[in-house]
Amino acid sequence: MAEVSGTAEFGLGKGKVFPADRAGSLLHPARRLVQSPRRTVRATALGSGAAVLELGCGPGFFSPFIKDAIGSGPLVLLDLQLPMLRLARQRTCGGPGIVSVQADGAALPFTERCFDAVFIATVLGELLDPGACLDDVHRVLRPGGTLAVAETRRDSDFIAASPLRELAESHGFEWRARRGPRWQFVATFRSTR
Ligand SMILES: C[S@@+](CC[C@H](N)C(=O)[O-])C[C@H]1O[C@@H](n2cnc3c(N)ncnc32)[C@H](O)[C@@H]1O
Repeated sequence: MAEVSGTAEFGLGKGKVFPADRAGSLLHPARRLVQSPRRTVRATALGSGAAVLELGCGPGFFSPFIKDAIGSGPLVLLDLQLPMLRLARQRTCGGPGIVSVQADGAALPFTERCFDAVFIATVLGELLDPGACLDDVHRVLRPGGTLAVAETRRDSDFIAASPLRELAESHGFEWRARRGPRWQFVATFRSTR
């Protein structure tokens, strides 16, 4: 049964926030076979030393691979749910340069232009207002910075590449590429001013 907290509704259905008590399914070894976190992160071409925000990190399925890609660059893990952040920190071994922040992805507690890239995997479809989230992502990205969005049809909140492109383009992003098939891809965008 869905649990309602504040304005967010938790549950497994469409448009609901994926609950922390089901985090284990996001880390299930079978997921790695169909959605390799290493290949997904590699497709975003994050540069070594980049400052990266992982928005809606959940239990950190992708986080260690982002950290590997950016090396000494700072990584901010952000999620609405504290138990998710705890799991993500465990997976990244709380390494140096990793900060976790509990916040709403549509009200980011960061100054303007402080990230080189923002990585968002299977989150946007859960948000009440994904456009508001992208506006804020645009604000915290440096001009020319990268927005990477990973989506999979296995997720009930899947957003296909074409509506995703339309949404991002209407919030200040320029389409760059889609890697992977239509049912599971990483789309990259460039922040424009
Ligand atoms: C389906 S999980 C995906 C987690 C992770 N990105 C992954 O692919 O394994 C969605 C995550 O987004 C988070 N989330 C949903 N709405 C959010 C919001 N408004 N602000 C921040 N995080 C949010 C949830 O708490 C959950 O951890």
